[in-house]
Amino acid sequence: MEIVVTLGEIYEARRLVPVDSAQVAGVSFRNLGQAGLDFLNEWADQSARVRVPATLNPAGMDLEAWKELGFSESFARQQQEVINAYERMGVETTCTCTPYLVGNIPARGAHVAWAESSAVSYANSVLGARTNREGGPSALAAAICGRTAAYGLHLGENRRAAIRVDVTCPVRSLSDFGALGYLVGKAACSRVPYLVFSDLSDPVSGAALKTLGASMAASGAVALYHIEGITPEAQAAPMLRPDAEAIAVDDLAPAYGALNSEAGQIDLVWFGCPHADLTEIAELVRLLDGRGVRSALWITTSRGVRDQAQRDGLVDALAASGARVVADMCAVVAPMEELGFRTLATPSAKGAVYLPGHAGLLVRYGSPEQCVEAAVSGTWPS
Ligand code: F3S
Repeated sequence: MEIVVTLGEIYEARRLVPVDSAQVAGVSFRNLGQAGLDFLNEWADQSARVRVPATLNPAGMDLEAWKELGFSESFARQQQEVINAYERMGVETTCTCTPYLVGNIPARGAHVAWAESSAVSYANSVLGARTNREGGPSALAAAICGRTAAYGLHLGENRRAAIRVDVTCPVRSLSDFGALGYLVGKAACSRVPYLVFSDLSDPVSGAALKTLGASMAASGAVALYHIEGITPEAQAAPMLRPDAEAIAVDDLAPAYGALNSEAGQIDLVWFGCPHADLTEIAELVRLLDGRGVRSALWITTSRGVRDQAQRDGLVDALAASGARVVADMCAVVAPMEELGFRTLATPSAKGAVYLPGHAGLLVRYGSPEQCVEAAVSGTWPS
């Protein structure tokens, strides 16, 4: 309660609000270290228990298949201790950044305390729930107290857009949505953007919206966006502030340029950032079309979605090509240095933003089609 109240004082909140759920980050032992694990165990030892449904962010490895993937025994033991500590506090160890795909789906207008920037963006923008971008400890504190301080995006007036973005170029593939999010995030820089598309041929999928929000969050700490005629709050109210700045995006090439290295040979191709839904796994099966891969090819997702993909035959279809559905983990927080990968290709702009600094990898960023070609040939397509 001291953490929750102190945050409220810092941000001049006038009251606390009950939260319906929490999404807790701070899971990979690679990020937490022993000090982080000790902190969690201390709270668990003191009988801290969450009082609202609380789900957990990705870990640093697949909790079941870690050995086959090449993670060390020592990392696996430490990672499992982190999971155990959260379990003792009653947190559902979902280990995913897409909790809304496995049952943690806040209602429109509900106050929640979510950490992990892409999940926060999806909850605010696509579901119309209300959350600030919590840190790991503050989301856990809110889950234990069942309350958070009412400031920032919990207040209606702060959800209006401060920048209008007219998107005049075509935006088609998932990586186009990621590239757009990268550019909008840079321009918005933690403000709320209001996007108006003039060239949208198809309905925008949930996968595209989560990709868009994830990259905006990565490049500009954007926690809420509106799209005219698409996202719930943009349909209901005049969400654009009268003094809003206006910009246009007419070319995605600068984002593709900024997110690409010169890597030629590709060691690993990574799909599933944010964690994949079933449509993305099925699309990967379609793109591979039974071809074998030379590079490692992973698509990361939650255990819940992986199990459904298994029942649907998608996991076996990918395995026949040499590709893997990997559960529980995120490459950005995994000890990738243990696995020997030097280069990686991905259609995720968020992954392309973070992987060079966090995992020391040379990254290629492109469409799902380009990434699949890279996996099949082992080199980035010219
Ligand atoms: Fe999720 Fe990791 Fe990407 S947390 S959004 S898979 S960087």
